[in-house]
Amino acid sequence: MDPAVDGIRLQKVLARAGFASRRRAEELIVAGRVTVNGARAELGRRVDPQTDRVEVDGVRVVGDDTLVHYLLNKPVGVMSTSSDPEGRPTVVDLVPSEPRVFSVGRLDFDTEGLIILTNDGDLAHRLMHPSHGVDKEYLAHVDGVPTPATLRAWREGVELDDGLTAPAKATLVDQGDGAALVSLVLHEGRKRQVRRMCSALGHPVRRLVRVRIGPIRDPDLGPGAWRELTADEVRALDGATVGVALHVRGRKAAGEDR
Ligand code: URA
Repeated sequence: MDPAVDGIRLQKVLARAGFASRRRAEELIVAGRVTVNGARAELGRRVDPQTDRVEVDGVRVVGDDTLVHYLLNKPVGVMSTSSDPEGRPTVVDLVPSEPRVFSVGRLDFDTEGLIILTNDGDLAHRLMHPSHGVDKEYLAHVDGVPTPATLRAWREGVELDDGLTAPAKATLVDQGDGAALVSLVLHEGRKRQVRRMCSALGHPVRRLVRVRIGPIRDPDLGPGAWRELTADEVRALDGATVGVALHVRGRKAAGEDR
């Protein structure tokens, strides 16, 4: 197919992706804020939403309706890999089997909470990019009540066997009965990082729940339940990784593609 002739009008793609009304989309194009594959788009431009990369102000518009993005509340006792040699249930068992999706990052078998499943390799790659990974918030129910000095240590970095952790946000949410609820916001994603950061300072984790991934949270999504991300949420996630997108594209332009 020749997208210039057979493609869909750009303003229709923008409108369909929930980005703007057709009228507003036309204004964005005329204002020069819309690019197709990196080049400024003209009004009347037609595109193939499955292959052309459409952006508004540098943020990608997901107009490809073959892409799916699910938000799952992973229960304890479920693997976040796509298959498990030991036959344990996995996150992909909890969402539709077609189209095939994979999880963006991992949660431990014994950790609960939000995880994204998608077939959008581009977004997943950027979300997992180590230098710009979006922040993630965890609620950790821990043994003992952390002192202000412990909270400060989490904020400044904890020495683990694989090195010092990056500064985290740490807040004491609740306490009582020799236990506490702590919110930890991390940019890194090392193996069992929250559990190790807590144990290292004398507060083993009893229960760990991820409650936010960048701009995405959903306190109403029960354990084992999933829903599709809205177009606004996909755009917000994409926006949270714009620095990464530029970095990756810059490397591609420099011939360093991986
Ligand atoms: N930190 C952990 O310890 N476990 C997870 O699953 C995620 C972050």
